[in-house]
Amino acid sequence: MVFPKDFLWGASTSAYQVEGASREDGKGASVQDVKPIPEGTPDFTVCSDHYHRYIEDVALFAELGLNAYRFSIAWTRIIPDGVGEVNPKGIEFYTRLIDELRAHGIEPVVTVYHFDLPQALAEQGGWANRATIDAFVEYARVLFEHFGDKITYWQTINEQNMMTMVPENVTGGTPSEDYPLYQANHHMLVAQSAVMALCHQVLPEAKIGPAPNIGLAMPLNGTPEDVLCAQYSNALDLWLYLDAAVYGRYNTMALDAIRFAGHTLEIADGDMEILRSGRPDFIAFNYYTTSTITFVPGETPQDATGAIRGPGRRVPNPNLPTTEWGWTIDPLGFRTTAQELESRYGLPLIVTENGLGAYDQLVDGHVEDDYRIEYLRDHLTTLGQAITTGVNVFGYNPWSAIDLISTHEGFLKRYGFIYVNRDNESEKDLARIKKKSFHWYRKVIDSHGADLT
Ligand code: BG6
Repeated sequence: MVFPKDFLWGASTSAYQVEGASREDGKGASVQDVKPIPEGTPDFTVCSDHYHRYIEDVALFAELGLNAYRFSIAWTRIIPDGVGEVNPKGIEFYTRLIDELRAHGIEPVVTVYHFDLPQALAEQGGWANRATIDAFVEYARVLFEHFGDKITYWQTINEQNMMTMVPENVTGGTPSEDYPLYQANHHMLVAQSAVMALCHQVLPEAKIGPAPNIGLAMPLNGTPEDVLCAQYSNALDLWLYLDAAVYGRYNTMALDAIRFAGHTLEIADGDMEILRSGRPDFIAFNYYTTSTITFVPGETPQDATGAIRGPGRRVPNPNLPTTEWGWTIDPLGFRTTAQELESRYGLPLIVTENGLGAYDQLVDGHVEDDYRIEYLRDHLTTLGQAITTGVNVFGYNPWSAIDLISTHEGFLKRYGFIYVNRDNESEKDLARIKKKSFHWYRKVIDSHGADLT
């Protein structure tokens, strides 16, 4: 048997993309609710209407065979202004959701924060303001108090690296030119470590870890310059986040690239102690793709002596196909990435996202998403290979359990096993329809990963 006995066969969503009810029952606004919406896509008031249909959805998740469900809690449903009053209706909603999952034998795998910073905090500078560290720790404390007896697996922050690399994920709209990217990132790292330490203190049985987006960068050519640029890229975009979370230290190459590029980064007294105080029990990671890097003279950071001091340019990989949305498809890169994580950190791993975004078509009540089946099959195959070589992976949660709003394309770009009958223009009837991939994944789970056909 390739997959371990207690393997978590799950699927994934995030609150602001699936729930809707974005201003109901006392929920405050998050940066997602107030950001400029990409043209032609809906706002977040309805999404997949999961907030009102979670009972039907959980029943479908059970029918799919899931024994885990990875979702996020909306900070603004729990503490509408980011700090201060707790909203009882928010606590009630997640209590009901978690109880419903447990009643169906589904392990809740909870993300504390997934791109939806409270707008009230964003107005005070968001993560650029040190006060957000305390706000995040207090928010996590509320979650631990209310849900600690129901949850074993927590993830702190979804894709902190994608929030720093694409700052509109953290600030909502385009950040101002003087937004201190790496200072804000530093505050997030400190907050994350403080929350991991708190979790271990108040919930000794619980397990917690970070959830970055990890896909290795590789050199385009076999030139030493391309190799060095790819090494910088991995350090800056990946290891910066995990070295801080796991070892409580800044990755040297990342720090060099940050400082060489002239970013502000002030590390206050005591911050490194906090970083060292919070240790993860596992690494959760989202994997969609690898990247390919090349050295470009005049563009790649170089000092006066000509020494390279930062990453090169991301370019398409000529050896690999892409999705309809231009994302490189690299199943073997999934194995390489998992093996690299194992050799760098030696911690248990859980995949919290992996999947294919596509223009699914509902034809005569059916969605024949063979392309998604192929993508997931190829990735599960290489994940199995990684496990066979000794990598400790304890769960797989493809994105997404059900169709939801994508970060930029609304409902045009779908990932789910369950089709939601709506589009960008109209909410239609929001009916749930099982895609072909639903039946395929159920078979995979039933066979414990032995039957991927
Ligand atoms: C991950 C995010 O980066 O990728 C999700 O955690 C996101 O929130 C997913 O939806 C897919 O990205 P996109 O842009 O296709 O929605």
